[in-house]
Amino acid sequence: MPGPLLDTLKGFCQPVPPVWLMRQAGRYLPEYRELRAEKGGFLELVYDSEAAAEVTVQPIRRFGFDGAILFSDILIVPHAMGQGLEFMAGEGPKLSPTLIEVELDSFTPDHDRFEPVYETVRRTRGMIDDSVTMLGFAGSPWTVATYMIAGEGSKDQGPARLLAYRDPARLQAIIDRIVATSVQYLRGQIDAGAEAVQLFDSWAGSLAPDEFERWVIAPNAAITAELKASHPDTPVIGFPKGAGAKLPAYARETGVDAIGMDETLDPAWVHASLPAGMPVQGNLDPLLVEAGGPALPKRVRAIVDAFGDRPHVFNLGHGIGQHTPISHVEELLAALRG
Ligand code: CP3
Repeated sequence: MPGPLLDTLKGFCQPVPPVWLMRQAGRYLPEYRELRAEKGGFLELVYDSEAAAEVTVQPIRRFGFDGAILFSDILIVPHAMGQGLEFMAGEGPKLSPTLIEVELDSFTPDHDRFEPVYETVRRTRGMIDDSVTMLGFAGSPWTVATYMIAGEGSKDQGPARLLAYRDPARLQAIIDRIVATSVQYLRGQIDAGAEAVQLFDSWAGSLAPDEFERWVIAPNAAITAELKASHPDTPVIGFPKGAGAKLPAYARETGVDAIGMDETLDPAWVHASLPAGMPVQGNLDPLLVEAGGPALPKRVRAIVDAFGDRPHVFNLGHGIGQHTPISHVEELLAALRG
């Protein structure tokens, strides 16, 4: 029996929208912080399948979400492509050497790094109810490339955007390699038990229109086409954060089944602009959940009401913040489920 989240992604409306939250497993949960301290770090958690499955299930146990998202990171793909990866406390990820310093061909790929992640999916699937949908994910090639090129998060993704203008053939070769590795990785997750997958394009919003076509739409379309060829029944959710007015083109041209919306999008505009019946996901501002107060339930209801008869998965517009009080998540759920 597929759960309500999977049903919605396949185009069927539910009386109450199913819900999960981006970054639902993470630092706002005391049980996560405890296990992370015990394991010594973030990557140690990700590559320990037993611990990662436990972290994946923690928010399901606490809140009864309709989806369990695999506990991993989008930067596991560069790591498997052979780039060094570290998560420094309080500083974010560091990849080395960067693709400014060296050529992609100097890396030695180690795709065995994906095995513990697949094992996390298998273990998690065995720990959750059939009605909870198991979600896999990968970063979209543009977003992953911005980290591989700069070696870290950058304010405006300047290094990758410069490379796109100075040497598009070189960026294309990087993107093509990320596409191929991500397809392999997502197929492995689906074969291990993921029932739907999300492509996170966190930095889609930093590109000029022609560049968006080439570096956001084309690679997401390539991944989706490959997945559809091997796994036609597994829904793909595309999340092009910051796409704004380019969202309808993304929805038409990538072939994704469902669209993740960030919090800057007006739900009424999205509803009017996307193909009828195309499932959507989102888009409560994570900072409103952190702030709480009477505006929170009001906004939850307004988002739900805006989509009328369109299949809608309730979610945030971006990941939940680490300082979010747990009681505010409970208020969100109470407003949604009544
Ligand atoms: O959603 C989930 O609960 C599943 C796990 C998940 C993580 N990262 C765990 C994580 C997912 C889906 C991601 C996606 C991810 N990772 C994205 C795309 C979404 C987005 O947020 O834009 C990006 C850009 C990354 C790269 C990344 N990972 C950064 C920039 C950082 C540092 C910033 C931060 O929040 O700490 C991470 C670390 C990270 N990934 C943490 C978690 C729970 C925090 C690590 C810790 O415990 O210290």
